Amino acid sequence: MTKKKLIRMVVVCFVFLTCFGFTVLTAKDSKVVEDLPALKDAYADHFHIGASIAPYQLMGPHSDLLKKHYNMIVAENIMKPEGIQPVEGEFKFDQADAMIEFAKEHDMDVRFHTLVWHSQTPDWFFQDAEGKPMVVDGEVADPDNYETNRQLLLDRMETHIREVVSRYAHDIDSWDVVNEAIEGYGYRQSDYYIMTDTDYIHEAFRITADELEKQGATGKLYYNDYETQNIQKRDLIYEMAKEMIDAGIPIDGIGHQGHMSITHPPVPLLVDSIEKMASLGLDNQITELDMSIYISDTQASYGSYDNIPDGILETQAKRYQDLFKALREISDSVSSVVFWGIADDHTWLHDFPTQGRVNAPFVFDHEFQAKSGYYAITEHYEEKMLPATATNQYYYILLGSALLIAGTVYLFYLWKRQRRSY
Ligand code: GLA
Repeated sequence: MTKKKLIRMVVVCFVFLTCFGFTVLTAKDSKVVEDLPALKDAYADHFHIGASIAPYQLMGPHSDLLKKHYNMIVAENIMKPEGIQPVEGEFKFDQADAMIEFAKEHDMDVRFHTLVWHSQTPDWFFQDAEGKPMVVDGEVADPDNYETNRQLLLDRMETHIREVVSRYAHDIDSWDVVNEAIEGYGYRQSDYYIMTDTDYIHEAFRITADELEKQGATGKLYYNDYETQNIQKRDLIYEMAKEMIDAGIPIDGIGHQGHMSITHPPVPLLVDSIEKMASLGLDNQITELDMSIYISDTQASYGSYDNIPDGILETQAKRYQDLFKALREISDSVSSVVFWGIADDHTWLHDFPTQGRVNAPFVFDHEFQAKSGYYAITEHYEEKMLPATATNQYYYILLGSALLIAGTVYLFYLWKRQRRSY
Protein backbone atom coordinates (compact mmCIF):
# COMPACT_ATOMS: atom_id res chain seq x y z
CA MET A 1 0.00 0.00 0.00
CA THR A 2 1.35 3.42 -0.89
CA LYS A 3 1.91 6.05 1.78
CA LYS A 4 -0.76 8.23 0.20
CA LYS A 5 -3.35 5.47 0.35
CA LEU A 6 -2.47 4.68 3.94
CA ILE A 7 -2.98 8.32 4.96
CA ARG A 8 -6.30 8.38 3.08
CA MET A 9 -7.47 5.28 4.93
CA VAL A 10 -6.45 6.66 8.31
CA VAL A 11 -8.31 9.92 7.57
CA VAL A 12 -11.42 8.02 6.48
CA CYS A 13 -11.31 5.87 9.63
CA PHE A 14 -10.87 8.97 11.79
CA VAL A 15 -13.85 10.81 10.22
CA PHE A 16 -15.90 7.68 10.45
CA LEU A 17 -15.15 7.07 14.16
CA THR A 18 -15.70 10.74 15.01
CA CYS A 19 -19.13 10.67 13.36
CA PHE A 20 -20.02 7.55 15.24
CA GLY A 21 -18.84 8.93 18.59
CA PHE A 22 -20.70 12.17 17.95
CA THR A 23 -23.84 10.20 17.19
CA VAL A 24 -23.71 8.27 20.43
CA LEU A 25 -22.87 11.31 22.55
CA THR A 26 -25.43 13.59 20.95
CA ALA A 27 -28.13 11.03 21.31
CA LYS A 28 -27.37 10.92 25.02
CA ASP A 29 -27.05 14.68 25.60
CA SER A 30 -29.78 15.97 23.34
CA LYS A 31 -32.27 16.27 26.17
CA VAL A 32 -32.54 19.97 26.80
CA VAL A 33 -35.22 21.25 29.14
CA GLU A 34 -37.54 22.34 26.33
CA ASP A 35 -37.57 18.84 24.87
CA LEU A 36 -38.39 17.06 28.08
CA PRO A 37 -41.78 15.60 28.81
CA ALA A 38 -43.53 17.71 31.44
CA LEU A 39 -43.73 16.14 34.89
CA LYS A 40 -47.38 17.20 35.13
CA ASP A 41 -48.18 15.32 31.90
CA ALA A 42 -46.24 12.26 32.95
CA TYR A 43 -48.34 12.13 36.11
CA ALA A 44 -51.65 13.32 34.66
CA ASP A 45 -53.29 9.95 35.34
CA HIS A 46 -52.08 9.93 38.93
CA PHE A 47 -51.82 13.25 40.78
CA HIS A 48 -51.03 16.92 40.46
CA ILE A 49 -47.37 17.88 40.52
CA GLY A 50 -46.79 21.07 42.48
CA ALA A 51 -44.09 23.42 43.68
CA SER A 52 -43.82 26.00 46.43
CA ILE A 53 -42.86 29.43 45.23
CA ALA A 54 -41.62 32.83 46.34
CA PRO A 55 -43.03 35.95 44.63
CA TYR A 56 -39.86 36.67 42.58
CA GLN A 57 -40.20 33.26 40.92
CA LEU A 58 -43.32 34.29 39.02
CA MET A 59 -40.97 35.69 36.37
CA GLY A 60 -37.90 34.54 34.46
CA PRO A 61 -36.52 31.00 34.31
CA HIS A 62 -38.28 29.82 37.48
CA SER A 63 -41.57 30.77 35.97
CA ASP A 64 -40.70 28.98 32.69
CA LEU A 65 -39.88 25.78 34.52
CA LEU A 66 -42.96 26.14 36.67
CA LYS A 67 -45.30 26.60 33.72
CA LYS A 68 -43.74 23.69 31.88
CA HIS A 69 -43.65 21.04 34.59
CA TYR A 70 -46.03 21.89 37.43
CA ASN A 71 -49.79 22.25 37.65
CA MET A 72 -50.15 23.25 41.29
CA ILE A 73 -48.54 25.98 43.36
CA VAL A 74 -48.30 26.85 47.03
CA ALA A 75 -46.74 29.93 48.60
CA GLU A 76 -43.52 29.16 50.42
CA ASN A 77 -44.15 31.94 52.95
CA ILE A 78 -46.43 34.76 51.96
CA MET A 79 -49.74 33.10 52.83
CA LYS A 80 -48.71 32.27 56.37
CA PRO A 81 -50.41 34.32 59.14
CA GLU A 82 -47.41 36.68 59.51
CA GLY A 83 -47.45 37.32 55.75
CA ILE A 84 -51.19 38.00 55.52
CA GLN A 85 -51.91 39.83 58.80
CA PRO A 86 -48.64 41.13 60.27
CA VAL A 87 -50.50 43.73 62.32
CA GLU A 88 -53.92 43.06 63.80
CA GLY A 89 -56.61 44.14 61.36
CA GLU A 90 -54.14 45.03 58.58
CA PHE A 91 -54.43 42.39 55.91
CA LYS A 92 -51.85 42.24 53.14
CA PHE A 93 -53.10 40.44 50.08
CA ASP A 94 -51.04 41.93 47.24
CA GLN A 95 -48.51 39.13 46.87
CA ALA A 96 -51.05 36.39 47.47
CA ASP A 97 -53.33 37.96 44.86
CA ALA A 98 -50.48 38.00 42.33
CA MET A 99 -49.78 34.31 42.89
CA ILE A 100 -53.40 33.39 42.49
CA GLU A 101 -53.63 35.44 39.28
CA PHE A 102 -50.57 33.62 37.94
CA ALA A 103 -52.15 30.27 38.77
CA LYS A 104 -55.38 31.21 37.02
CA GLU A 105 -53.56 32.46 33.94
CA HIS A 106 -51.64 29.20 33.65
CA ASP A 107 -54.39 26.85 34.68
CA MET A 108 -52.78 25.66 37.91
CA ASP A 109 -54.38 24.51 41.14
CA VAL A 110 -53.48 26.35 44.34
CA ARG A 111 -52.86 25.05 47.87
CA PHE A 112 -53.25 27.54 50.68
CA HIS A 113 -50.53 27.18 53.32
CA THR A 114 -51.52 27.82 56.07
CA LEU A 115 -54.45 29.25 58.01
CA VAL A 116 -53.37 28.19 61.51
CA TRP A 117 -49.85 27.43 62.75
CA HIS A 118 -47.92 27.99 65.98
CA SER A 119 -44.96 29.34 63.99
CA GLN A 120 -44.68 32.30 61.58
CA THR A 121 -47.72 33.77 63.33
CA PRO A 122 -47.26 37.27 64.75
CA ASP A 123 -46.91 37.67 68.51
CA TRP A 124 -49.99 39.87 68.80
CA PHE A 125 -52.16 36.81 68.15
CA PHE A 126 -51.12 35.47 71.56
CA GLN A 127 -51.19 38.71 73.57
CA ASP A 128 -53.97 39.83 75.86
CA ALA A 129 -55.88 43.11 75.49
CA GLU A 130 -53.01 44.94 77.18
CA GLY A 131 -50.37 43.47 74.93
CA LYS A 132 -49.00 41.00 77.49
CA PRO A 133 -48.28 37.39 76.42
CA MET A 134 -51.10 34.99 77.25
CA VAL A 135 -48.56 32.19 77.81
CA VAL A 136 -45.23 32.46 79.62
CA ASP A 137 -42.82 29.53 79.98
CA GLY A 138 -45.43 27.09 78.76
CA GLU A 139 -48.03 28.17 81.37
CA VAL A 140 -51.18 30.28 81.22
CA ALA A 141 -49.83 33.68 82.31
CA ASP A 142 -52.98 35.16 83.76
CA PRO A 143 -55.29 32.45 85.16
CA ASP A 144 -57.81 35.06 86.36
CA ASN A 145 -58.42 36.19 82.80
CA TYR A 146 -58.01 32.80 81.21
CA GLU A 147 -61.53 32.61 79.76
CA THR A 148 -61.36 36.12 78.31
CA ASN A 149 -57.98 35.51 76.74
CA ARG A 150 -58.93 32.10 75.41
CA GLN A 151 -61.92 33.66 73.68
CA LEU A 152 -59.82 36.56 72.37
CA LEU A 153 -57.41 34.10 70.76
CA LEU A 154 -60.21 32.04 69.19
CA ASP A 155 -61.89 35.23 67.93
CA ARG A 156 -58.69 36.40 66.31
CA MET A 157 -58.24 33.05 64.68
CA GLU A 158 -61.81 33.16 63.40
CA THR A 159 -61.41 36.68 61.99
CA HIS A 160 -58.22 35.66 60.24
CA ILE A 161 -59.75 32.53 58.74
CA ARG A 162 -62.96 34.19 57.57
CA GLU A 163 -61.13 37.14 56.00
CA VAL A 164 -58.81 34.87 54.02
CA VAL A 165 -61.31 32.17 53.11
CA SER A 166 -63.98 34.61 51.95
CA ARG A 167 -61.46 36.31 49.68
CA TYR A 168 -60.02 33.16 48.10
CA ALA A 169 -62.91 30.71 48.49
CA HIS A 170 -63.16 30.07 44.74
CA ASP A 171 -59.43 30.17 44.01
CA ILE A 172 -58.03 27.58 46.41
CA ASP A 173 -58.33 23.85 45.84
CA SER A 174 -56.70 22.61 49.04
CA TRP A 175 -56.50 24.46 52.34
CA ASP A 176 -53.93 23.66 55.00
CA VAL A 177 -56.25 24.53 57.87
CA VAL A 178 -53.89 23.54 60.69
CA ASN A 179 -50.17 22.88 60.40
CA GLU A 180 -48.03 20.84 62.82
CA ALA A 181 -50.28 20.47 65.87
CA ILE A 182 -48.74 17.15 66.91
CA GLU A 183 -45.24 16.60 68.16
CA GLY A 184 -43.43 13.69 69.77
CA TYR A 185 -45.90 11.84 71.96
CA GLY A 186 -48.93 14.10 71.79
CA TYR A 187 -50.30 17.50 70.99
CA ARG A 188 -47.71 20.21 70.56
CA GLN A 189 -47.58 22.45 73.61
CA SER A 190 -48.06 25.59 71.55
CA ASP A 191 -49.67 28.78 72.81
CA TYR A 192 -52.75 27.76 70.86
CA TYR A 193 -52.92 24.41 72.65
CA ILE A 194 -52.08 25.75 76.10
CA MET A 195 -54.89 28.31 75.79
CA THR A 196 -57.54 26.20 74.07
CA ASP A 197 -56.57 22.52 74.21
CA THR A 198 -57.72 20.94 70.92
CA ASP A 199 -60.54 23.47 70.50
CA TYR A 200 -58.45 25.65 68.20
CA ILE A 201 -57.99 22.70 65.82
CA HIS A 202 -61.65 21.74 65.76
CA GLU A 203 -62.82 25.35 65.53
CA ALA A 204 -60.40 26.11 62.71
CA PHE A 205 -61.81 23.29 60.60
CA ARG A 206 -65.43 24.18 61.45
CA ILE A 207 -64.97 27.87 60.67
CA THR A 208 -63.16 27.20 57.38
CA ALA A 209 -65.86 24.79 56.23
CA ASP A 210 -68.58 27.18 57.32
CA GLU A 211 -67.05 30.11 55.44
CA LEU A 212 -66.57 28.00 52.32
CA GLU A 213 -70.18 26.94 52.47
CA LYS A 214 -71.30 30.56 52.86
CA GLN A 215 -69.33 31.41 49.74
CA GLY A 216 -70.68 28.40 47.86
CA ALA A 217 -67.16 27.04 47.40
CA THR A 218 -65.77 23.53 47.58
CA GLY A 219 -62.07 23.59 48.51
CA LYS A 220 -60.75 20.61 50.47
CA LEU A 221 -59.55 20.87 54.08
CA TYR A 222 -56.24 19.32 55.20
CA TYR A 223 -54.31 18.76 58.38
CA ASN A 224 -50.61 19.08 57.49
CA ASP A 225 -47.55 17.77 59.34
CA TYR A 226 -43.98 16.43 58.99
CA GLU A 227 -42.65 12.94 59.79
CA THR A 228 -46.11 11.52 59.24
CA GLN A 229 -44.55 8.12 58.59
CA ASN A 230 -43.23 7.96 62.16
CA ILE A 231 -45.42 5.25 63.67
CA GLN A 232 -46.18 7.08 66.90
CA LYS A 233 -46.92 10.35 65.15
CA ARG A 234 -48.88 8.64 62.39
CA ASP A 235 -51.14 6.99 64.96
CA LEU A 236 -51.69 10.26 66.82
CA ILE A 237 -52.66 12.00 63.58
CA TYR A 238 -54.92 9.09 62.71
CA GLU A 239 -56.63 9.25 66.13
CA MET A 240 -57.06 13.01 65.89
CA ALA A 241 -58.60 12.76 62.43
CA LYS A 242 -60.83 9.87 63.49
CA GLU A 243 -62.11 11.80 66.50
CA MET A 244 -62.88 14.73 64.22
CA ILE A 245 -64.73 12.57 61.74
CA ASP A 246 -66.70 10.86 64.52
CA ALA A 247 -67.63 14.26 65.95
CA GLY A 248 -68.77 15.52 62.56
CA ILE A 249 -65.93 18.04 62.22
CA PRO A 250 -65.15 18.49 58.53
CA ILE A 251 -61.74 17.25 57.33
CA ASP A 252 -60.93 15.99 53.84
CA GLY A 253 -57.34 14.92 54.01
CA ILE A 254 -53.87 14.75 55.46
CA GLY A 255 -50.89 16.66 54.12
CA HIS A 256 -47.65 14.71 54.48
CA GLN A 257 -44.90 17.31 54.26
CA GLY A 258 -42.32 14.84 52.96
CA HIS A 259 -39.09 16.56 53.98
CA MET A 260 -36.71 13.68 53.39
CA SER A 261 -33.06 12.80 52.95
CA ILE A 262 -31.35 10.33 50.66
CA THR A 263 -31.66 7.71 53.42
CA HIS A 264 -34.66 8.69 55.56
CA PRO A 265 -37.52 7.80 55.88
CA PRO A 266 -38.14 4.36 54.40
CA VAL A 267 -40.67 4.72 51.58
CA PRO A 268 -42.84 1.78 52.80
CA LEU A 269 -43.48 3.60 56.08
CA LEU A 270 -44.83 6.61 54.21
CA VAL A 271 -47.00 4.30 52.14
CA ASP A 272 -48.35 2.70 55.36
CA SER A 273 -49.22 6.10 56.72
CA ILE A 274 -51.03 7.14 53.55
CA GLU A 275 -52.97 3.89 53.50
CA LYS A 276 -53.91 4.25 57.14
CA MET A 277 -55.28 7.76 56.58
CA ALA A 278 -57.04 6.58 53.43
CA SER A 279 -58.80 3.89 55.48
CA LEU A 280 -60.66 6.77 57.17
CA GLY A 281 -61.82 7.92 53.76
CA LEU A 282 -59.29 10.76 53.72
CA ASP A 283 -57.36 12.06 50.76
CA ASN A 284 -53.57 12.41 51.02
CA GLN A 285 -51.20 14.97 49.56
CA ILE A 286 -47.44 15.13 49.72
CA THR A 287 -47.14 18.82 50.43
CA GLU A 288 -43.50 19.82 50.96
CA LEU A 289 -41.35 17.26 49.20
CA ASP A 290 -37.60 17.74 49.18
CA MET A 291 -34.74 15.26 49.55
CA SER A 292 -31.61 16.48 51.31
CA ILE A 293 -28.33 15.07 50.04
CA TYR A 294 -26.98 14.89 53.61
CA ILE A 295 -27.72 12.08 56.01
CA SER A 296 -27.27 14.02 59.25
CA ASP A 297 -27.58 17.56 60.56
CA THR A 298 -23.88 17.64 61.32
CA GLN A 299 -22.49 16.22 58.08
CA ALA A 300 -19.96 18.59 56.52
CA SER A 301 -21.00 20.66 53.52
CA TYR A 302 -19.86 19.63 50.03
CA GLY A 303 -18.77 23.26 49.74
CA SER A 304 -20.20 24.15 46.36
CA TYR A 305 -22.86 22.77 44.06
CA ASP A 306 -20.30 21.46 41.57
CA ASN A 307 -18.57 19.47 44.30
CA ILE A 308 -21.60 17.35 45.07
CA PRO A 309 -20.53 13.81 44.08
CA ASP A 310 -22.37 12.24 41.13
CA GLY A 311 -22.85 9.11 43.22
CA ILE A 312 -24.90 11.06 45.75
CA LEU A 313 -27.15 12.42 43.00
CA GLU A 314 -27.56 8.91 41.62
CA THR A 315 -28.55 7.63 45.07
CA GLN A 316 -31.03 10.47 45.26
CA ALA A 317 -32.42 9.59 41.82
CA LYS A 318 -32.91 5.97 42.83
CA ARG A 319 -34.78 7.03 45.94
CA TYR A 320 -36.94 9.44 43.98
CA GLN A 321 -37.71 6.56 41.64
CA ASP A 322 -38.72 4.29 44.52
CA LEU A 323 -40.83 7.01 46.07
CA PHE A 324 -42.72 7.93 42.91
CA LYS A 325 -43.20 4.30 41.95
CA ALA A 326 -44.77 3.65 45.35
CA LEU A 327 -46.93 6.76 45.08
CA ARG A 328 -48.12 5.80 41.60
CA GLU A 329 -49.22 2.46 42.98
CA ILE A 330 -51.42 4.11 45.62
CA SER A 331 -52.42 7.13 43.58
CA ASP A 332 -56.12 6.52 44.25
CA SER A 333 -55.35 7.81 47.73
CA VAL A 334 -52.96 10.63 46.73
CA SER A 335 -54.25 13.71 44.89
CA SER A 336 -51.05 15.73 44.64
CA VAL A 337 -47.31 15.69 45.14
CA VAL A 338 -45.89 19.13 45.80
CA PHE A 339 -42.15 19.85 45.89
CA TRP A 340 -41.00 22.46 48.41
CA GLY A 341 -39.32 24.44 45.64
CA ILE A 342 -38.87 24.43 41.87
CA ALA A 343 -35.15 23.77 41.32
CA ASP A 344 -31.99 23.39 43.41
CA ASP A 345 -31.05 27.08 43.27
CA HIS A 346 -33.75 28.01 45.80
CA THR A 347 -34.40 25.86 48.86
CA TRP A 348 -34.62 26.46 52.60
CA LEU A 349 -32.17 23.54 52.93
CA HIS A 350 -29.25 25.76 51.84
CA ASP A 351 -29.64 27.30 55.31
CA PHE A 352 -31.25 24.56 57.37
CA PRO A 353 -30.18 22.95 59.62
CA THR A 354 -26.84 24.62 58.90
CA GLN A 355 -26.40 28.09 57.47
CA GLY A 356 -24.77 28.01 54.03
CA ARG A 357 -24.61 24.20 53.57
CA VAL A 358 -25.21 23.75 49.85
CA ASN A 359 -28.01 21.32 49.07
CA ALA A 360 -29.63 19.80 45.99
CA PRO A 361 -33.00 18.41 47.02
CA PHE A 362 -35.03 18.52 43.79
CA VAL A 363 -35.16 16.89 40.35
CA PHE A 364 -33.99 20.08 38.55
CA ASP A 365 -30.51 21.44 39.25
CA HIS A 366 -29.34 24.96 40.20
CA GLU A 367 -29.32 25.90 36.50
CA PHE A 368 -32.81 24.51 35.86
CA GLN A 369 -31.55 21.40 34.04
CA ALA A 370 -33.10 18.00 34.62
CA LYS A 371 -31.14 15.85 37.07
CA SER A 372 -30.98 12.07 37.19
CA GLY A 373 -33.89 12.33 39.59
CA TYR A 374 -36.05 13.77 36.83
CA TYR A 375 -35.26 10.85 34.52
CA ALA A 376 -35.76 8.40 37.35
CA ILE A 377 -39.33 9.53 37.90
CA THR A 378 -40.26 9.89 34.23
CA GLU A 379 -38.31 7.16 32.40
CA HIS A 380 -41.17 4.80 32.97
CA TYR A 381 -43.35 7.05 30.86
CA GLU A 382 -41.05 7.58 27.89
CA GLU A 383 -42.88 5.38 25.43
CA LYS A 384 -46.23 6.74 26.43
CA MET A 385 -45.04 10.33 26.19
CA LEU A 386 -43.26 9.99 22.83
CA PRO A 387 -40.90 12.78 23.81
CA ALA A 388 -39.25 15.01 21.23
CA THR A 389 -35.93 13.77 22.60
CA ALA A 390 -36.71 10.27 21.45
CA THR A 391 -37.30 11.62 17.94
CA ASN A 392 -33.92 13.35 18.14
CA GLN A 393 -32.27 10.17 19.26
CA TYR A 394 -33.76 8.15 16.40
CA TYR A 395 -32.64 10.82 13.96
CA TYR A 396 -29.07 10.76 15.22
CA ILE A 397 -28.95 6.98 15.34
CA LEU A 398 -30.20 6.86 11.74
CA LEU A 399 -27.62 9.41 10.65
CA GLY A 400 -24.86 7.52 12.49
CA SER A 401 -25.88 4.23 10.88
CA ALA A 402 -25.95 5.81 7.40
CA LEU A 403 -22.44 7.17 7.92
CA LEU A 404 -21.31 3.82 9.25
CA ILE A 405 -22.59 2.01 6.15
CA ALA A 406 -21.18 4.64 3.79
CA GLY A 407 -17.80 4.46 5.54
CA THR A 408 -17.72 0.66 5.37
CA VAL A 409 -18.59 0.66 1.67
CA TYR A 410 -15.87 3.23 0.99
CA LEU A 411 -13.26 1.27 2.93
CA PHE A 412 -14.24 -1.87 1.08
CA TYR A 413 -13.94 -0.01 -2.24
CA LEU A 414 -10.45 1.26 -1.30
CA TRP A 415 -9.37 -2.19 -0.25
CA LYS A 416 -10.63 -3.69 -3.54
CA ARG A 417 -8.89 -1.03 -5.60
CA GLN A 418 -5.69 -1.57 -3.73
CA ARG A 419 -5.82 -5.35 -4.33
CA ARG A 420 -6.48 -4.79 -8.02
CA SER A 421 -3.44 -2.55 -8.31
CA TYR A 422 -1.05 -5.29 -7.04
C1 GLA B 1 -42.46 23.51 57.62
C2 GLA B 1 -43.59 24.43 57.22
C3 GLA B 1 -43.31 25.12 55.93
C4 GLA B 1 -41.88 25.63 55.86
C5 GLA B 1 -40.94 24.50 56.11
C6 GLA B 1 -39.51 24.96 56.00
O1 GLA B 1 -42.48 22.32 56.99
O2 GLA B 1 -44.83 23.78 57.11
O3 GLA B 1 -44.17 26.20 55.81
O4 GLA B 1 -41.70 26.66 56.76
O5 GLA B 1 -41.19 24.03 57.40
O6 GLA B 1 -39.29 25.74 54.92
